[in-house]
Amino acid sequence: MTEGAIELELRGITKQYPGVLANDAISMTVRSGEIHAIVGENGAGKSTLMSILFGLVAPDDGEILVRGERVQFKSALDAIASGLGMVHQAFQLFPTMTVADNVVYGHEPRRGWFIDRASSVRQVGDLAKSYGLGIDPSARIEHLRVGALQRVEILKALYRDARVLILDEPTAVLTPQERDGLFEVLRRLRADGRTILFITHKLNEVMAISDRVTVLRRGRVVHEVATSDTSPAELSIAMTGRSVDTSRRRAEHAVGASLLEVSHLRVDDADGIRRVDDVSLTVHEGEIVGVAGVTGSGQAELIEAIMGLRPVTDGTITLQGEDVVHLDLRGRRDAGLAYVPEDRHRVGSAALASTSQNLFMAYQWQRRFQRRGWLNRRAVERHARELIDTYDIKVAGPDQKVAELSGGNLQKVVVARELAHDAPVLIAEQPTRGVDVGASEFIHGQLVAHRDAGRGVLLVSAELWEILALSTTIFVMFDGRLVAQLDPHETDDVEIGLYMTGANEQQRVHT
Ligand SMILES: Nc1ncnc2c1ncn2[C@@H]1O[C@H](COP(=O)(O)OP(=O)(O)OP(=O)(O)O)[C@@H](O)[C@H]1O
Ligand SMILES: [Mg+2]
Repeated sequence: MTEGAIELELRGITKQYPGVLANDAISMTVRSGEIHAIVGENGAGKSTLMSILFGLVAPDDGEILVRGERVQFKSALDAIASGLGMVHQAFQLFPTMTVADNVVYGHEPRRGWFIDRASSVRQVGDLAKSYGLGIDPSARIEHLRVGALQRVEILKALYRDARVLILDEPTAVLTPQERDGLFEVLRRLRADGRTILFITHKLNEVMAISDRVTVLRRGRVVHEVATSDTSPAELSIAMTGRSVDTSRRRAEHAVGASLLEVSHLRVDDADGIRRVDDVSLTVHEGEIVGVAGVTGSGQAELIEAIMGLRPVTDGTITLQGEDVVHLDLRGRRDAGLAYVPEDRHRVGSAALASTSQNLFMAYQWQRRFQRRGWLNRRAVERHARELIDTYDIKVAGPDQKVAELSGGNLQKVVVARELAHDAPVLIAEQPTRGVDVGASEFIHGQLVAHRDAGRGVLLVSAELWEILALSTTIFVMFDGRLVAQLDPHETDDVEIGLYMTGANEQQRVHT
């Protein structure tokens, strides 16, 4: 690759938040037409740096040059005018508006004085198609799931013809197939001479797609290197200051009595479309049951039905022999289901509440948090401090609002809370999404410990390696049905992939 002109230069960018120096004199150079990866542990300052670059957060110090010219962004609008586009870690879309309305927002095509909605639907549809971002321009945002929301964010930046695209953990919400699609898009953009800043925790992605890598640690640049001159091991050491063991753990285990039993479950959505079709599965003591599948194959609806967030059309769900179908979410939690939801923002946490409140939320009626009928504040705080410590959650203190936490640290809050209660069954959806390599290893250890203590886990993950590494048995879901049950010792990602795309189907899966 020939060296392009300098597209962006950051000089001495510094941002202090109460109790944390999020960016500490960061200087870096990004060349036109390169895919530049930014990596670092949770809380290292990656998103903060990108928010500063995109005009969302004002730095305390430092300067930004775009193609050699010093800029001072007062808002994202200034950044957009300078040719920058951003796909956020937390999506910024209007829930009640359509995809097309969100994409063209502020840049609506007009006919005379009027917004030309037909043309915006057409333009957005064409744009989506040309980049292979399969999405319906007239769908309402609130009806979309995370993977689709991200594609809308990408469309929004492309619609504004961004020269520089900033992607904050874009692959965290994608299936392997969607990720390959995204990489195709990124390569096409690079071939056009566009520049991409790409944040990820997955070092294999860094190796696969980037030209250069910058490593942040505790707000500072600790390493900057051409991708061809580095390795995942070297990057991981630069990120953490130590080497991380990411090898698979599959200890022998003893499977006990049945805990959660789902039998002939059918779930139709509000439009009468069957999302879950005759699904039967059992989670036993000492078992991690993995469910693999392409996003949209019904896993989400299955989990929502199990947790009481979605009505069941037919079939039964029992927990330790007790029928739970008539119980609501709280009732099911009381009965012994803990839940790490896929969407940690909308379902998993309360943004404006403190970290310590979020660490016991949904469990506040437990006796250990009560004192003569009142909330025992000291117990709550002790609990919070313990979990912050155990999970190494980077917060200024237990009172910090979770809205201010980095993405991975918020995920750790949700996982820590749900694992802390030793519920008989943990339902874990994408439990390590957005967390760094070290934290991901730690969470895996906790899930295995949960299993080894004779409890059960139902694990839904878009990461096949995670499913393979943790599960004691694997189900593959396709088109609402369980199409295969596989032994993790006897299968691999290729075989699972075939079932996931519907290319293969076992006789009929019954447990
Ligand atoms: N608005 C804010 N108020 C206070 N502190 C903040 C705010 N935004 C970020 N921080 C803190 O700044 C530090 C860096 O956060 P940042 O979101 O940049 O990390 P990150 O590298 O993106 O991490 P992750 O991988 O988890 O997304 C964290 O300790 C975070 O709690
Ligand atoms: Mg971040």
